Amino acid sequence: MAEQKATNVTWQDGQVTREDRFQILRQKGATIWFTGLSGSGKSTIAIALEQALFDVGKLSYRLDGDNVRLGINKNLGFSEQDRKENIRRIGEIAKLFGDAGTIALSSFISPYQEDRDEVRKLHEVANLEFVEVFVDCSLAVAEERDPKGLYKKARAGQIKNFTGIDAPYEAPAKPEIHLRTDEMTLEQEVSIVIDYLVDNGIIRRGYYTRTDDQADGAAATALQGNQA
Ligand code: ADX
Repeated sequence: MAEQKATNVTWQDGQVTREDRFQILRQKGATIWFTGLSGSGKSTIAIALEQALFDVGKLSYRLDGDNVRLGINKNLGFSEQDRKENIRRIGEIAKLFGDAGTIALSSFISPYQEDRDEVRKLHEVANLEFVEVFVDCSLAVAEERDPKGLYKKARAGQIKNFTGIDAPYEAPAKPEIHLRTDEMTLEQEVSIVIDYLVDNGIIRRGYYTRTDDQADGAAATALQGNQA
C-alpha cells in the first residue's frame, strides 16, 4: 500500500455517526467488489444490480473501471504498479461510500489477489462489509464476446499488457460469491447477490419505509410493555 506522506494529520470524527446515516437510508453501507476478466460481465451485472436495488428503494453507486479511469485515475495506465494504485484508490473511495451508507458496486478487473486483499483489509479495519464477487467466465468466452474489440487488438499486438493475453489474472481463492456468467442468466446472478445482501443484514427484503420503521418501533415498545 502507498506510504503515508503527510505528517501531523489526524482523523476527526463528526457528530453524526455511521449508524445515523445507515438509519436514514434504511440499509447498511457496504462494498460489492466484482472482479474478473475484461468482458466477463462485471459492469453488466453491476448495472442490473443497481437497477434492482433502486427498484426496492436501496441506494447503490457504481464505480466502474473505464469511468474511473476517465476521471480520478486518468493518470494511471496498465502496468502492475498503476493497476495496484488504481485498485488502492478505488478501495479507499468504495470505503468512503460504504461509510456514507451507500452500497458501492465496484467493477474492476483487479487482477491481483494481493491488491484485492488489501482492499478487504481496509474494509475489515473500518468494520465495513466487503463482498468479493468472482465474475467468472473462460478466456475463450470473454474473447468471443469481445464487446469493445480489445481482445482482437491485444492479439494483434496493438495493446500491450492486456489481462488474459500478456498480463495475468489471479482468480480469487475464496470469494464470497462465485458467478459463472457463461452458465447463469443475468437475473440469476442479480438475485444471488441480492440474497447475499439480505442474508447478511445489509438490506431488508422489499421496499422499507419510515412508516415501517415506526411500526417496528411501536411493536418493539409494545413487546417490552408486555414483558414488564
Ligand atoms: S485493472 O486491471 O486496473 O483493474 P480496470 O478494470 O481499471 O483494470 O480497467 C479495465 C478496462 O480498461 C477494460 O475493461 C478495458 O476496457 C480497458 N483496457 C485498456 N487497456 C487495457 C489493458 N491493457 N488491460 C486490461 N484492460 C484494458
